[in-house]
Amino acid sequence: MTVWELLAEAAVALPRREGLPDPAREARWLLARCLNRAEGWLVAHADESVSESDAARFRSMVARRASGEPAHYIAGSCPFFGREFLVAPGVLIPRPETELIVEHALGLSLPPAPRVLDVGTGSGCLATTLAMELPGARVVATDVSPSALRLARANARRLAARVACCLADLATPLRGGFDLVVANLPYIPDGELSTLAPEIRDHEPRLARAGGTDGADLLHRLVADLPRLLAPGGHALLELGPGQADLLRPGVLAAGLYETTRLVDVAGVDRVVVLSR
Ligand SMILES: C[S@@+](CC[C@H](N)C(=O)[O-])C[C@H]1O[C@@H](n2cnc3c(N)ncnc32)[C@H](O)[C@@H]1O
Repeated sequence: MTVWELLAEAAVALPRREGLPDPAREARWLLARCLNRAEGWLVAHADESVSESDAARFRSMVARRASGEPAHYIAGSCPFFGREFLVAPGVLIPRPETELIVEHALGLSLPPAPRVLDVGTGSGCLATTLAMELPGARVVATDVSPSALRLARANARRLAARVACCLADLATPLRGGFDLVVANLPYIPDGELSTLAPEIRDHEPRLARAGGTDGADLLHRLVADLPRLLAPGGHALLELGPGQADLLRPGVLAAGLYETTRLVDVAGVDRVVVLSR
């Protein structure tokens, strides 16, 4: 089979639906990853023949995608802040809006060799990126999911980032003194979980999404622990859902912290709240 024939076959096999609006484009994206080539290469080499084993692997990727599995799980990796991170079922696929946390963190005035904590690290995208972007940073990452921590360790190792990974409920076993705490914890209200797009609802882990009745159960708990975790003058950057910054406000005041700013995502939603001690 040639590149062109495989792409034509896949474009028919992939159903057009929510989350998969352009089957031909999706087919090119998958074949490029299967062959470890740029998509532009496929266009320039449409007549090139593909080995039987590569064609079989590509067809199995297409079948998984047609059944609704997210493309990044099938490819096994996902870009985040300019680097490629391994991803796998059971661990959340990093989202572009989470890059807001990194962008803001890099503009903060932090001490040399800052102590950084990432709570609910998942693939480790925040912890590893901050370890690589903040010179001398000493980064600790926690997660309650052993499979997430395994992946976070693998990503840190692959990218040669120094991150200490710790299996923990939030940051309960850790001592404080962090200059920067970042967290993208689950924040979907339980009542909204069934309304998520099927790709997310049926394939990404509930543990990475479910945030309790108002969606902010874990955020409330983390905010209450921030006075202990943050060094004086330290900052916390917390990703959250629509309206949740206001829900956190009483807890922020009770913790003696102040809200410095909110970061708005491309959809105009307050996506990250920045708290300081
Ligand atoms: C929304 S995902 C975010 C993952 C990653 N930080 C990212 O931005 O892609 C939330 C993560 O929090 C973890 N988590 C859920 N409950 C937790 C808890 N009580 N303590 C620590 N981590 C928790 C989940 O396992 C999941 O990896």
